[in-house]
Amino acid sequence: MNILAIESSCDETSASVLVNGHIRSNVIATQLIHEQYGGVVPELASRAHQQHILPVVERALADANLSKNALSAVAFTRGPGLLGSLLVGASFAKALALGLNIPLIEVNHMQAHVLAHFIENPKPAFPFLCLTVSGGHTQIVRVDGPLEMTVIGQTMDDAVGEAFDKSAKLLGLPYPGGPLIDKYAKAGNPMAFRFPMGEMPNLDFSFSGIKTAILYFLRDHTKTNPGFIEENMADICASIQHTLVQMLLTKLKRAARETGIRDIAIAGGVSANSGLRTALTQLGESLGWQVYIPRFEYCTDNAAMIAIAAQFKYEQGDFTAQTVSPMPRMSM
Ligand code: KG4
Ligand code: ZN
Repeated sequence: MNILAIESSCDETSASVLVNGHIRSNVIATQLIHEQYGGVVPELASRAHQQHILPVVERALADANLSKNALSAVAFTRGPGLLGSLLVGASFAKALALGLNIPLIEVNHMQAHVLAHFIENPKPAFPFLCLTVSGGHTQIVRVDGPLEMTVIGQTMDDAVGEAFDKSAKLLGLPYPGGPLIDKYAKAGNPMAFRFPMGEMPNLDFSFSGIKTAILYFLRDHTKTNPGFIEENMADICASIQHTLVQMLLTKLKRAARETGIRDIAIAGGVSANSGLRTALTQLGESLGWQVYIPRFEYCTDNAAMIAIAAQFKYEQGDFTAQTVSPMPRMSM
């Protein structure tokens, strides 16, 4: 079984080749154009996908040492994501599958983030809980089977990745600021400043309050000391990161308690955060959880996770018609 998978939901153009259950290549072209605008500009993302898609797919096939004529199926991200971006990957996948006369497989991007855990060993056992944290989503998912997933908690406003990026912007850091907060936080004191964690019922999250709290905190301090941010960058970043990580872990603990599930995974771009990785590992050790953290390149958007999800669908004969169109708001 040789599957070519394409991911183009946001600002990374990626293609991956899976051969008999193993990822042979995973090529990712990151779009740097958005940095100067402080966020992803949908129209520019779509144009960049058009420029990248052919070389990225050719590179993925070459790295896997496979001819396109040897493919068994073509998979693509149907949603959720930016419409213009999704259209590029979907159109390309449809045309290629039609030309080669092989099946087409649609994949849900959020399911794929969860299934990234099946690319390498150790693989989680069912049922497990997955905290999916990215620039667009914050969810706690109960996973009962490869394609059986239920969202049991989610954000009511901003995603946690957005909270990282917007906080970074307030500190004058470039987009995407999440990785920079992580970097500065390593040298800072997480207890230096306190930010409100807010109170949300059930297993849901809210990240819009902390952003406002940081805005007022910085405004008040820079009023008396214009150099406040520069002088305290490490401590501010460590404190913001600590607060966001604690907000995530509080709900994850509650979800584990309520479901009785002790196999816990994280997925999505924010799972690359070193503070979250360390805190989750420590929490897992103290509570007797089996914790699963994917390798960094499989945390952020990539086509290898689309390929692995497509493999499960291929095995079930779950193929997609050529009439399919992208779904920007696709649910699990
Ligand atoms: O999953 P992803 O690559 O794309 C989406 O589907 O959104 O996630 C991107 C998000 C961005 O908000 C980025 O700032 C955040 O993940 N991120 C991080 C780190 N690496 C990426 N946030 C905090 N610490 C990091 N090390
Ligand atoms: Zn993603």
